[in-house]
Amino acid sequence: MPHTRGFVPPPYPYDRLDELRASAASLPGGAVDLSIGTPCDPPPAAVLEALARSGAERGYPPSVGSPEMREAAAGWLGRRFGVSIDPGAVAACIGTKELVAGLPHWLRLRRPDRDTVLYPEISYPTYAMGATLAGCRAVPYRRLEDIAPADAERALCLWVNSPANPTGELSDLPGAAAWGRARGVPVLSDECYIEFTWDGPGRTILAEGSEGVLALHSLSKRSNLAGARVGFYAGDGELVHYLAEVRKHAGFMVPGPVQAAAVAAFADDTHVEEQRTRYLRRLERLVDALGAADIPCQLPPATFYLWVAAPDGDTWALTARLAAEAGAIVSPGEFYGPAGSGHVRIAAVQPDDRIDLVADRLAGRRGPAGARTQT
Ligand SMILES: Cc1ncc(COP(=O)(O)O)c(C=O)c1O
Repeated sequence: MPHTRGFVPPPYPYDRLDELRASAASLPGGAVDLSIGTPCDPPPAAVLEALARSGAERGYPPSVGSPEMREAAAGWLGRRFGVSIDPGAVAACIGTKELVAGLPHWLRLRRPDRDTVLYPEISYPTYAMGATLAGCRAVPYRRLEDIAPADAERALCLWVNSPANPTGELSDLPGAAAWGRARGVPVLSDECYIEFTWDGPGRTILAEGSEGVLALHSLSKRSNLAGARVGFYAGDGELVHYLAEVRKHAGFMVPGPVQAAAVAAFADDTHVEEQRTRYLRRLERLVDALGAADIPCQLPPATFYLWVAAPDGDTWALTARLAAEAGAIVSPGEFYGPAGSGHVRIAAVQPDDRIDLVADRLAGRRGPAGARTQT
């Protein structure tokens, strides 16, 4: 018998695009899915080799992460972002989404007097969902200075996401760390797009020291390993230890071969440089093509997303127009909170020839079979 008075999971946002997907699929050349930020390019060969041949599949892997993986993650943070982190304050997660969704629950177990999760008003939906799953209040904020003192007093944690999905913006990480420390509120900094920072070097909250902060990192985007499910969190030693212990009891483990692959991925930066070049090329191509179709937009300071204002403010009309004219499936901004309405997010995650197809369709340069016509 269904219990209707309890939690009813809302429709998964991207499932709401199924109808548009089906109609765009009927265009010659098919639909080009630019909605979900899922990588399409290959991981490096050394990573696949490690995945296939580590021999780590027989026994249970360490929940906290192998010593090699924790050292490789700390080494990457030092090499790329100049922060010195003790590998003992680094722990594995099964991709970061499960951690984002689970953190409020685990934090609340030891702070039952705090019931409020603060998160950016236009953001990845899992921050709010994690609060809901923990039975907490999900309270969005626009700027740190707008947070009401009454909400700050009840705050279990503060989320920041820089570079930000979906806007591509960079936020004030020193300010966030200081805000949390002044109030004894842990600051959770989701930094999974850090390698795709275009405006200067990548920045981590760990540059402010690790007290009271956690940085979350993922190999899904950096190394095209979203299917392998691996990331880590690092920062405040006591907090990392608590979470790692809870997660060990609950049986969260990154599979051994995936941990071996993570070691290889964190050791290599060449593939990241190649990926950065690809994303930037695709973003530039889309910005040009959209601009020429009277949908003006700009390159973001970071990430592989374009955050595009609907010319007349009608998000769903722009979503439908891009599907009908260009076969492009994009995400309406309200997927990222009510304040995102009026924009769409376009993920530059398809191969170059598919991005070209979208650009050509927008310019009216494709014939009935999807082939290029003479211009
Ligand atoms: C802001 C943000 N955080 C976390 C994730 C989760 O990534 P993963 O679970 O693959 O590490 C995503 C995925 O799109 C994201 O956009």
